[in-house]
Amino acid sequence: MPARLHFAPSKGWMNDPNGLVHWQGRHHLFYQYNPDGTEFTNQHWGHASSPDLLTWTEHEVALFPGPERTSPYDATACFSGCAVEHDGGVSILYTGVLGDAQLPCLARAADDGLSGFVKDPANPLLPAPPAADITEFRDHSVWREGGLWRQLVAGARREHGGSVFALSSADLRAWEYDGVFMDRARSKVPGAVWECPDYFAVDGTDGTDGTGALLISVIHEDGEEGHAVWWMTGTTSGGGFEVREAGVADVGDRFYAPQSYWAPDGRRIQFGWLRTHEDPAGLDGPAVGVMSLPRELSVRHGRLHCEPAAELTRLRLAATPVPATGPAALDGARTTGELVLHAAAADGVRAVGLRSSAGAEMTVDLAAFAGLDGPLRLFWDEGIVEVFRGGVAGSWSDLRVTEVAELLLDGGPEAAGGRAEVWELALPERLTGPAAGHRTD
Ligand code: FRU
Repeated sequence: MPARLHFAPSKGWMNDPNGLVHWQGRHHLFYQYNPDGTEFTNQHWGHASSPDLLTWTEHEVALFPGPERTSPYDATACFSGCAVEHDGGVSILYTGVLGDAQLPCLARAADDGLSGFVKDPANPLLPAPPAADITEFRDHSVWREGGLWRQLVAGARREHGGSVFALSSADLRAWEYDGVFMDRARSKVPGAVWECPDYFAVDGTDGTDGTGALLISVIHEDGEEGHAVWWMTGTTSGGGFEVREAGVADVGDRFYAPQSYWAPDGRRIQFGWLRTHEDPAGLDGPAVGVMSLPRELSVRHGRLHCEPAAELTRLRLAATPVPATGPAALDGARTTGELVLHAAAADGVRAVGLRSSAGAEMTVDLAAFAGLDGPLRLFWDEGIVEVFRGGVAGSWSDLRVTEVAELLLDGGPEAAGGRAEVWELALPERLTGPAAGHRTD
C-alpha cells in the first residue's frame, strides 16, 4: 500500500476528496473511487473515517452509480460533491453523470455512520446547466448564508473558459441560478475549465467581515502551463464575488481537487488528492491515488495560509540533529519521517535529496519556501513528500523512494550554522474495515 501517514484505499482507483464532514465524533472522508480497477472511470464514492485525522478505517462504498431502473440520471458515474449538515443529519450534493450530461443531485445519509446515501426523488435537481453557454457543469460547494443555502458549481463557458456558477435554495432541492460567481477574466486565475470549487466564509482573522476564500482546480488550455490549484480571497456581493487576492494553493506538482470543512474546534481542515499516477511507479500495485495529509487553512492578511494539521505533531517520537549542508545517513532506512529546518537552515537549504538504500533518489526544490516565516517542515511517507513553511504548502512524489536511508541537504553559505533535525514518527494505525462493497440489488 502506498503511504502510511497518508490515507489510501487498499485497492482500486481514488481521486478527489468528497463530502468531507465531521459528524458524531468522526471525520468522514469520501472520495471518487473505482472499486473494480485502477483506472479513472466508473466513479463511486468510497468512504473512510477517522476519530483523530491520523488513524483511518476504510468502509464499504457509500454511493453507487445507478441502477438505471431507479436512478438513470447517475447511471454512468457519481462525480464529486460536498456534504452539508441539516435537519439533524447529513446530506450530499454531487454530480450525477449520464453519458455526457452532468446533473446536480441530492442524497441523504441513511445512518449516523454515513455508511450509505438515499438518493432524493427530486433528482436530477436541474435538467441541464442553467445558461446556454455553459459547457462544463460539475462539483459542488454549499454553505448557509442569509437564511438560504448557497451553492457553487464549477465548469466552463464558451469563449470565457474557467468559471464558477452560483445558485441558491431554501430547501436544497429547488435551486435558482444567481449567475457567474467568478471566472478567469475577473480573477486572472488561468484555466480552460475550472473544477472542484471549495468556498468558505472566514471570520476575518485580519479584522475583516464577510471575507470568503474560494479554491478551484484548473484544467489548463492546450499549451498553457502552471499550477493546478488556486485560492482567491475576497467578499461576496449579491450573487457574485469580488476577488481581493489570489495565489497558488500548493507549489508542488501532485496536489489537486482539494476540499475543506469545519472541525468542531473551529479549524478549517483540508484534504487534496495527490496524483501519484503521474509518477513513474504510480500505477503499480492494487491501489492508485493517495490523499494529502490533513492541512489547516486560515486567511491571514487577506491571503490563504496553509499548515499541516496540529495532530501530525503527535506522531513525533525522537529527534536526531542533521547537518544543514551535505549528506546525512539516517540510522537505518525509514519509510516515514519529518525533517525540520530552523532559521538560517530554512532559508539557506535550497533543495533536499531523499535517497533509498536501493539508490532511488528524489530531489525536492525548496526555492518557493525561501524567505517565509518560521521553520520548514518536510514530511516523507513511502515516496510522497509534503513541505510546509510560513503558510505555503507543496507536495511531490517518487514512489520508487519507498524508504529514506540518507538525506542530502543542499545548503548554501547562508545555511551554515543553521539547525536541522529529523523526527522519527510513530505509524498511525490503519484499520481495515469491511472490504469495499458491491451493490447487492
Ligand atoms: C476532478 C474531477 C472532477 C470530477 C471528478 C471525476 O479531478 O475531474 O471535476 O467530478 O474528478 O472523478
